Amino acid sequence: YGTLIHSISIEQLDIVSNGVLVVNGKGVIVHVEKDVENLQEFLDTQSFKDAETFKIHKIGAEQFLVPGFVDTHAHAPQYMFAGSGMDLQLLEWLDTHVFPCESAFESVDHAAEAYQKVITRFLSNGTTTCSWFATIHLGACQKLVDIIQQLGQRAYVGKVNMDQNAPDYYIESTETSLADTRTFIEYVQGKKTNLITPVVTPRFAITCSTPLMQGLSQLAKEYNVPIQTHLCENHDEIDFTCSLFKSKDYTSVYDNHQLLNEKSYMAHCVHMTDDEIDLLAVRKTGIAHCANSNFSLHSGVCDVRRFLTKGVKVGLGTDVAGGFAPSMLDAVRSTFFASKTQKIMHRDILKDKNYVPLNPNELIFLATLGGAQVLGLQDQIGNFEKGKAFDALWVDLEGGSIDLMGGETMHQKLEKFLFNGSDQNLKHVYVQGKNVSSRK
Ligand code: GUN
Ligand code: FE
Repeated sequence: YGTLIHSISIEQLDIVSNGVLVVNGKGVIVHVEKDVENLQEFLDTQSFKDAETFKIHKIGAEQFLVPGFVDTHAHAPQYMFAGSGMDLQLLEWLDTHVFPCESAFESVDHAAEAYQKVITRFLSNGTTTCSWFATIHLGACQKLVDIIQQLGQRAYVGKVNMDQNAPDYYIESTETSLADTRTFIEYVQGKKTNLITPVVTPRFAITCSTPLMQGLSQLAKEYNVPIQTHLCENHDEIDFTCSLFKSKDYTSVYDNHQLLNEKSYMAHCVHMTDDEIDLLAVRKTGIAHCANSNFSLHSGVCDVRRFLTKGVKVGLGTDVAGGFAPSMLDAVRSTFFASKTQKIMHRDILKDKNYVPLNPNELIFLATLGGAQVLGLQDQIGNFEKGKAFDALWVDLEGGSIDLMGGETMHQKLEKFLFNGSDQNLKHVYVQGKNVSSRK
């Protein structure tokens, strides 16, 4: 009972004061009521007050509920070196930092230790849903799923595939890659949880042969699972891809291997032609915008407004460890800076005065409902509609890194949380009604 803030659409943010959210034992929102001045009177009119156990949580005056954050792109093993090794650009960075780090996940014990840390950190930062890249190793991927299940995050998890253009200490044969992916999908689908979904994860075209990509497309179809990969992140990557596959552009490579559909989502998409964006729109494929990573690996400044104008679904990704921060609050801020940089470039270089940067309502949408749409979870999460799961952050503006001067509107308080807040402003984090993290 208190203030609820959530996106209805990218245009509409709803700020509900004196709201009541009723959550049942399965963690599903069964009732939403606005403007309830007298809670007792409201309860007296409802049948659920006769439920066997019934608990009331009051959200305080300097507190509110927002939907949990949806991170549409992160690399779980790379959390090991997040915040270091940021001197290189993509392809050199992969060779120097990423592949050596990921190859160590051949050890399931090593994976268990690392994955416990990263999932705990993401949950305490309010990421209730995350789409993960793991490594090529089946055992470590299964361990990641076990740990996610135990800690209670909602997740999409991918066993990474790479059978070419990779170091000999970190590569798999086409046959092993496909067989292990099948085993992994069956392992996840066999679990008694609706929170974890397997996702087919070719690393990117450079490290995947045509037979591998074709086989992965077949597996995605056979098991009805989504597909995630990287697209148009870096100029050298794009040039190498087009020459490897003798293609006019990068997006066509995935399309020619039947990897683009309404369940697919592509990370980055920094350097796209209009034709490539149009193709994503036609295929109903989504985009994971990873602004911190695009700056940190100096890949480029992605124009999110261009995707939105063309009707392509967009969510935000931390892309740990290309992005150094394991936090969606940082993803919001990096997205804000990328959008302002686009505004500056349009105004000063392209002499276009009409470019509209992203506003705070659009930023919170992208971090929640937008991400849910990219993952195809818009009927389950992303806002506080009746029938959806209660994935939520209980935000407390006091006791953290925010100073209120008094007299701020609720909208200003939300902005303060987005720009000045931290994990210390998250009193509790819930996934499907279950408290999965609380402020220390
Ligand atoms: N492209 C292929 N692999 C990776 C990766 O691990 N991180 C990023 N940012 N881009 C990639
Ligand atoms: Fe990535």
